[in-house]
Amino acid sequence: MRSMLFVPADSAKKFAKGMTSGADALIIDLEDSVAPDNKARARESALAFLQEASADPARPYLIVRVNSLQSGLTDADLDAVAPGRPDAIMLPKAEGGASVVHADAKLAVREAVVGLPDGHVKIVPIATETAASLFVAGTYAGSSTRLSALTWGAEDLSAELGAETNRGADGRYLDPYRLARSLCIAGAAAARVPAIDTVYIDFRDDEGFRRDCEAARRDGFTARMAIHPAQVPIINEVFTPTAEAIAQAKIIVDAFAANPGAGTLAIAGVMADQPHLLRAKRVLERAAAKKG
Ligand code: COA
Ligand code: MG
Repeated sequence: MRSMLFVPADSAKKFAKGMTSGADALIIDLEDSVAPDNKARARESALAFLQEASADPARPYLIVRVNSLQSGLTDADLDAVAPGRPDAIMLPKAEGGASVVHADAKLAVREAVVGLPDGHVKIVPIATETAASLFVAGTYAGSSTRLSALTWGAEDLSAELGAETNRGADGRYLDPYRLARSLCIAGAAAARVPAIDTVYIDFRDDEGFRRDCEAARRDGFTARMAIHPAQVPIINEVFTPTAEAIAQAKIIVDAFAANPGAGTLAIAGVMADQPHLLRAKRVLERAAAKKG
C-alpha cells in the first residue's frame, strides 16, 4: 500500500475519478469532508459505491473513514456500510489501543450480522488528533489483529490545542505537530504496522509535495494519504522502492545469506549489521507487495 486517496462520500463524481486515479486505496470519507446534514445521504452513497466497486476485480483497497467514537455517529456509520464489505475502516480521533478494542467489538457485531468472517474489516487509526491521543500513541501494539496501519493528523490537533496555526512562516510544521508525526512513526513501529503520512493540503504544489513525500519516506513512512488525484502518481513513485534501492538491498540480504551466523559484515567497504539487514529486507518486502 502506497497511496490512499480521500473521496468525500457524498460525491459520486469523485468516486468514479478515484477508481481510475491509480490509488492503491480509496478512503471513502463520512467524517470531516461531509457536512452534518449530509451524513445520512453520504452513508447511502458510500454503501452504493462499495457495492459497485466490489464487483471490480482490479478495484483499489476500500477504506471507510467513519465518524469518531466520541461523535456518537460511529454505530450508524458502521450499520450503513457493513453490507458493502469494506476492507477497512479509518478511525479518526483514536485514543490508543483502547479505541481499537472498542471499534473491534463494534465491527465483530456487524460482521456477524452481514455474514463476513470475524476480523475481515481492518482498522487504521488516526492516532494524533486529540490532546489525549498523544499520551497513548504507544499503546496500539497487541490491541487487535485488525490493526493494519497507523496514521496521523495535524488539523484537528491544532484546533484541540487552541493553537492559531500548525505551521510556521516557513511552512514547516511547528513543534506539537512534529511531535505528533514522530509519535505516529514510533507508535506504528512499536505495533509492527506501517506508518502512513498525513495529507498535504496544498494540492497544486507538486514540487513541495514531492519533497515532503521524500522526507516522509526517509523518516519511516511507507505510504501517504492524498486529497486530490494529482497527488497519487507522486506518492506511488516516491514510495515504490527504486531499482537502485532494490539492488542495494539485495546485495545486503545476499551477503548475510552467504555468511550464515555472521552478525556484522563489510560490504563494499561499509559496515552492515542487523539493523541494516532488517532495513534491506523491508525494502524487498515493499518491492514485492505494492498493495499489501
Ligand atoms: N477524489 C476523486 N476525484 C477528485 C478528488 C478526490 N479527492 N479531488 C478532485 N477530484 C476530481 C474533481 O472532481 C475534478 O473532476 P473533473 O475533472 O471530472 O471535474 C478533477 O478531480 C480535478 O479537480 P480540481 O478541479 O483540481 O479540484 P476541485 O476544486 O474539484 O476539488 C477539493 C478540490 C479539495 C475539494 C477536492 O480535491 C476534494 O474533495 N478532496 C478530498 C477532500 C477530503 O476528502 N478531505 C478529507 C480528508 S482531509
Ligand atoms: Mg479531521
